Amino acid sequence: MAWKSFLEKEYTLPERVYIFDTTLRDGEQTPGAALRPEDKIKVAEALSELGVDIIEAGFPLVSKGEFNAVKTIANLGIGSKVCALARAEKMDIDAALQANVDWIHVFIATSDIHLRYKLKMTREQVLERAYNMVDYAKQHGVTVHFSAEDATRTEPSYLMQVFREVEKAGADSIDIPDTVGTALPTAMRYLVKLTKENVHIPVSVHCHDDFGLAVSNSLAGVEAGAEIIHCTINGIGERAGNASLEETVAALHFLYGIKTNIKLEKLYSTSRLVEKLTGITIPKNKAIVGDNAFSHESGIHVHGILGSPETYEPVMPESFGRRRRIIFGKHSGVHGVESLLKEYGFSHDREKLRKVLDRIKEIGDSGGKVSEEDVLEIANQIYGRQSLNRSTVRKLHVSKINREYEALCELVVAQELVNGRGVGDNAILASLNSAINAVRSISDVRLVDYKIHSSFDGIHPSEAEVVIEIKGEESTGRGLNKDPATAVAAAVASAVHQILTSEKFVKVSGERKW
Ligand code: KIV
Ligand code: ZN
Repeated sequence: MAWKSFLEKEYTLPERVYIFDTTLRDGEQTPGAALRPEDKIKVAEALSELGVDIIEAGFPLVSKGEFNAVKTIANLGIGSKVCALARAEKMDIDAALQANVDWIHVFIATSDIHLRYKLKMTREQVLERAYNMVDYAKQHGVTVHFSAEDATRTEPSYLMQVFREVEKAGADSIDIPDTVGTALPTAMRYLVKLTKENVHIPVSVHCHDDFGLAVSNSLAGVEAGAEIIHCTINGIGERAGNASLEETVAALHFLYGIKTNIKLEKLYSTSRLVEKLTGITIPKNKAIVGDNAFSHESGIHVHGILGSPETYEPVMPESFGRRRRIIFGKHSGVHGVESLLKEYGFSHDREKLRKVLDRIKEIGDSGGKVSEEDVLEIANQIYGRQSLNRSTVRKLHVSKINREYEALCELVVAQELVNGRGVGDNAILASLNSAINAVRSISDVRLVDYKIHSSFDGIHPSEAEVVIEIKGEESTGRGLNKDPATAVAAAVASAVHQILTSEKFVKVSGERKW
């Protein structure tokens, strides 16, 4: 916490902040992200396992399926409180009550823009409606969380009048939504401070990312005394999204020293689950959960990392359930390559090492990508060591049968030829399943995770990454191919090959694996 003394001087920070996750409501409002009820339940269970305090499970009035999903989540008996969204309308509140939730999030817009163009109501009418609907919900014994939609574009004195009124009606907490993401951190601090001078119930902030400020604005809210933060996994949500839970929590924990109930080591797996179920891909450069967040290629950085990870990593990747990755390419330096070769038992030889590095840079310069397996293969050639034969996809045939895809593959893995058949909803999944079935004939393999970045530009290959587990040991394989189905099969073969050949290497040569 480099800024600890500065923060202590500037602000009175809380010891703990409560996390209100709206992945299943605002997150699901991301265009194209609708989840099936069974997937909503999976996400709710994962959020509860993660340690989220309040899960906004949905908006029961929008559809029968949504109502049922919210009700099922409310009745799961998970550790988190379950909340439902409701407009300041009796029918919305009734639907939420019937869904049996612990919290109801009642909202009404308060900005003149929304009053004039959307609600067609006067300020007095909104004030009265807000009071009546909070009072109505409270009479039914639920916890009421009140949001003044578009709060950051609402005239502050009117906003405070609304907040005082809903506190009188019995609201348990108040939320300040930055609905179109136009707040500045300094404005958010001002609004939270003002709110805390006007009401005595906990205050939360709900920030959108239209200007890329959602996390900063949420943290500014905490600096001014907000006790609750609304956020979503991977920052998904309307338009540019909401404050990302993983970034907000990581900053609270590591930069501010503020506790939450979140189990940091589960952040990555939860993020991957949401990515898979919503189909919204995490950008490679996304903080904490992006592919590159703990990857290093440049020689200078890899050298530093090998000396001490602190040089170029603010936090150990393991804190978030992640691993460090050294990437090879034209920016690679001698230290990264040396460290990999040492791990695989290659003796130290400056000249040979230089030749391996030159070859890596040559491939990198021509736009190619170099996997760990490629580096080992280059080293085998240069060191004149008997190659353990790299893994390959010898054949892959994918066909569509009715609504399913079937894949038949032939792989070479650790000098063995294996065949597999797999089916799936698409060609990539069928290929993945066929490759997993193929490698199961030589080892007890469990698929842990997979990811595909398809490239359709005809220039860059598609990239697949597969994590498998064999006898408690995890291995990550990467496959590069213009065809994503082949790339994923290659990644499976590579992951298994790496584990099996490193075992073989110890047996064959008697050299120590570092
Ligand atoms: O962004 C927003 O204003 C909302 C409200 C429903 C709180 O999501
Ligand atoms: Zn929102």
